Amino acid sequence: MKKTTPRSPRPQLLPRSVSIIGTGSHVPARVMTNAEFAARKELDTSDEWIRSRTGIIERRFAGEKEFTSDMAAEAARRALSNANVKPDEVDLIIVATVTPDMPFPSTSTFVQHKLGAKRAACFDVNAACSGFLYALEIGQQFVAAHTYNTALVIGAEKLTSILDFTDRNTCVLFGDGAGAVVLRSRGGDSHGILTTCMGADGAQGDLLKVPAGGSRCPASHASVDGKLHAIRMMGREVFKQAVNAMNAAATEALARCNLNGPDIALVIPHQANLRIIDALGERISVPRDRIYVNLNRYGNTSAASVPIALDEAAHEGRIKRGDLVLMVAFGAGFTWASCVVQW
Ligand code: COA
Repeated sequence: MKKTTPRSPRPQLLPRSVSIIGTGSHVPARVMTNAEFAARKELDTSDEWIRSRTGIIERRFAGEKEFTSDMAAEAARRALSNANVKPDEVDLIIVATVTPDMPFPSTSTFVQHKLGAKRAACFDVNAACSGFLYALEIGQQFVAAHTYNTALVIGAEKLTSILDFTDRNTCVLFGDGAGAVVLRSRGGDSHGILTTCMGADGAQGDLLKVPAGGSRCPASHASVDGKLHAIRMMGREVFKQAVNAMNAAATEALARCNLNGPDIALVIPHQANLRIIDALGERISVPRDRIYVNLNRYGNTSAASVPIALDEAAHEGRIKRGDLVLMVAFGAGFTWASCVVQW
């Protein structure tokens, strides 16, 4: 019998530190103001109600021919350029979204094609508004484990494609956009992603959902007539859970790093409601001037909200090398996630 040479065992590599080496974001040009909603008499809403209950003043709406993958690809181009990385250097693309271009193929494969990132493996992640931080943890693990060197992590949404514009409880809250980061190890640098936490409570799924379009309720005339392809939310209950879960996720990430709120230079929270953000700041002892807020301009962009805010904060000089940044999000599922980065 022919003898086979035993394969040499895989070298044991220690996990390496992973950094965000570039950020980018893109929002559609069309600005939709509160006043435009208020002008639709049948909605019976006002600028004052939306502003005082949510903090939102305006949001961006994508055009009919502008898809989630278009916004994702533009945000990714900007992140790659910011990181000085070429598309063919990207090993992995993860897109977090609840509004994919279509059920399959994944939005990440459309993004790969648009970028010309031919070497990249691609998949999507759905953890609703926590999706970007889930995807960031996954991308981080691949780079830390030496499986890949360069990962592109994107949060992108066209939420206007799943809004019921006759439901004032939801249609005024959401907007479209995309944000992206490039992950790599900077070698011996101990800076980078210090910790990531993720969690979920599947018992609460009914409080925030899109009921139809999946295997439970495939598209039909009845599902369309019943507006079952649009977001349904029990706002007051979601609000309470969001405050508790964001606080718990933030506290866990800080504890894992042996840090307290006052050590953090900037908090980047999911942008759903200014009152949720203020309650979080109060509970973790971080004043408003160290919490990044842009929901007044974009509303809730779900998985895109944290990476858009991170990119804007970085470009505005709100984050300096060595600063500790806390990101925290909460979303449908329920899901929650947090992350501490040393910039
Ligand atoms: N304009 C005017 N009135 C409105 C309105 C609007 N756009 N939307 C709701 N209302 C009304 C409601 O119908 C209700 O009227 P009623 O008392 O006659 O029934 C009243 O305002 C109060 O509703 P309520 O739901 O108690 O308001 P709220 O203070 O909780 O604010 C939200 C509503 C949706 C802004 C708030 O609950 C929220 O932000 N929830 C969490 C949202 C979130 O984080 N979602 C995503 C998680 S990722």
